[in-house]
Amino acid sequence: TKDWNGIDQVVLRVPRGASARVSLHGGQVISWRNERGEELLFTSNKAIFKPPKAMRGGIPICFPQFGNCGSLEQHGFARNKMWTIDNDPPHLPSSDGNAKVSVDLLLKPSEDDMKCWPHYFEFRLRVSLSMGGDLTMISRIRNINGKPFSFSFAYHTYFSVSDISEVRIEGLETLDYLDNLQQRERLTEQGDAITFESEVDRVYLGSPNVIAVLDHEKKRTFVIRKEGLPDAVVWNPWEKKSKSMVDLGDEEYKQMLCVDAAAIERSINLKPGEEWTGRLELSAVPNTCCCDH
Ligand code: BG6
Repeated sequence: TKDWNGIDQVVLRVPRGASARVSLHGGQVISWRNERGEELLFTSNKAIFKPPKAMRGGIPICFPQFGNCGSLEQHGFARNKMWTIDNDPPHLPSSDGNAKVSVDLLLKPSEDDMKCWPHYFEFRLRVSLSMGGDLTMISRIRNINGKPFSFSFAYHTYFSVSDISEVRIEGLETLDYLDNLQQRERLTEQGDAITFESEVDRVYLGSPNVIAVLDHEKKRTFVIRKEGLPDAVVWNPWEKKSKSMVDLGDEEYKQMLCVDAAAIERSINLKPGEEWTGRLELSAVPNTCCCDH
């Protein structure tokens, strides 16, 4: 199917009704719905679906740079590029044997990209939906250059939440983090699960491979499972920053929370011929009694 700008989108749908929608612009997942048809990812009402910028919501991919601590545009160019469908994807062993529907996308650098980041790569992205509605993204980045290169990476996931003040994150307690609101100062998380009462923009370092985002009001937990991605970004712009963003409504920060599986603090280094894999699996499950008070 195509969007209003004529850009191809791929819809994945499984028999029980869960679905996902992936845009070839950015290789961005722009919708993920459970079997009741409820949207699980946030998309701003003011999102601009017009290239070259990535629209505000879904799961933009940050590559080859996260943030603006490098020579490239904020979060790198991958999210702003047109990807193609990879008609000849390599066979990937299924880790759990579950049947899935999937699409394979491919990004190679254009001549323009090579001017600002002179490294030849192939980026293969597989987006899959399991029969139970879990969303999996597998990124494989191969160096087909004559020389090594390094990069940082994030699945910049905008979860849809009922009300940010009703949400907490479990799995990041006691970790060190870089605080983007304090010149990337390295601090240590104290106390219990993370809750929200003001702007947060942090990179948690060396985080566990399973993180949970609990939404009390919706009685829903997002479970994030990641591999090859040691860090976790937590971002909510809160009131003041939202007002400065043209593609985010003033009050919409209440309905969104970004928790990104990422590799940021230590960049990934690839020698010629080497390949890196970063895997993200998202499930949305009802809160169980013990997590819900
Ligand atoms: C977050 C960063 O991940 O992305 C924030 O930590 C940034 O600093 C946010 O503001 C949104 O970035 P962008 O480029 O999509 O507006």
